[in-house]
Amino acid sequence: MSTEQDDREQQLVERVLASFANTPDPRLKEIVQALTRHLHAFVREVRLTETEWQRAIGFLTATGHATDDRRQEFILLSDVFGVSMQTITVNNEAYQNATEATVVGPFFVEGSPRIEHGGDLSFGASGRPCWVEGSVTDTTGKPVPGARIEVWEADEDGFYDVQYGDDRTAARGHLFSDDDGRYRFWAIEPTPYPIPHDGPVGDLLTATGRSPLRASHLHFMVEAPGLRRLVTHIFVRGDALLDHDSVFGVRDSLVKDFEPQPAGTLAPDGRDLAGSAWSRVRFDIVLAPAR
Ligand code: BEZ
Ligand code: FE
Repeated sequence: MSTEQDDREQQLVERVLASFANTPDPRLKEIVQALTRHLHAFVREVRLTETEWQRAIGFLTATGHATDDRRQEFILLSDVFGVSMQTITVNNEAYQNATEATVVGPFFVEGSPRIEHGGDLSFGASGRPCWVEGSVTDTTGKPVPGARIEVWEADEDGFYDVQYGDDRTAARGHLFSDDDGRYRFWAIEPTPYPIPHDGPVGDLLTATGRSPLRASHLHFMVEAPGLRRLVTHIFVRGDALLDHDSVFGVRDSLVKDFEPQPAGTLAPDGRDLAGSAWSRVRFDIVLAPAR
């Protein structure tokens, strides 16, 4: 590229940066100027054609049109670029042995039913019963009693209750850790499912040869006074999708052994499983101090 061309491009970047120089809020100024630098660097690096720019605008317009009260296509877009996961990584800084965070996803709903210890949060959702147990502690190992543990997951067919559109509540619930910081409940064994892919983000995945599937997981949100709120999942060791999760949510430390229990194996709480196989998993949760 000629020096003259390079100068023209660089001058434009400088002029745009200068236009934001008097932004009163210093944080907003930092963000819009860094965004300017990165956007211009991108356009210059790929030598973006005007036709490609128009297609990009068309794509973002379609993403907006696909978004409504129930569907957030922009978050999905952020998810498949790993930007949601990077934002979570930046904001949940590694702290000693604290459990790692991952994406929240679009299917968390306020007001889930409370279950007792050993209760069943499947509420009739299809899937193999799974006994989940563990502890909540701080990073010194001190038990955290009364932590609110919120859990949600897709059923065996890969759908969350809210995707059925019939007001059912299933495969979600919350409980509180006991006096020793322990918890236990019945759920269903997680299975893989696709993120919503019938919109522009799905088209992008198809065009780039990527799968919309998420590795099997069980969502957790854990809150206790004085400790950092944790939003995370546990994943199933051996799942072929662990290295190909469409939203990059997998962390090695979150991959757990879901131990299969053949039909007829006595359940921990003596539950009658009507002769069906089940599985069990242990997840010990460690919460960082609140900032
Ligand atoms: C989920 O795990 O529920 C999810 C996360 C990101 C996008 C879509 C779904
Ligand atoms: Fe999920």
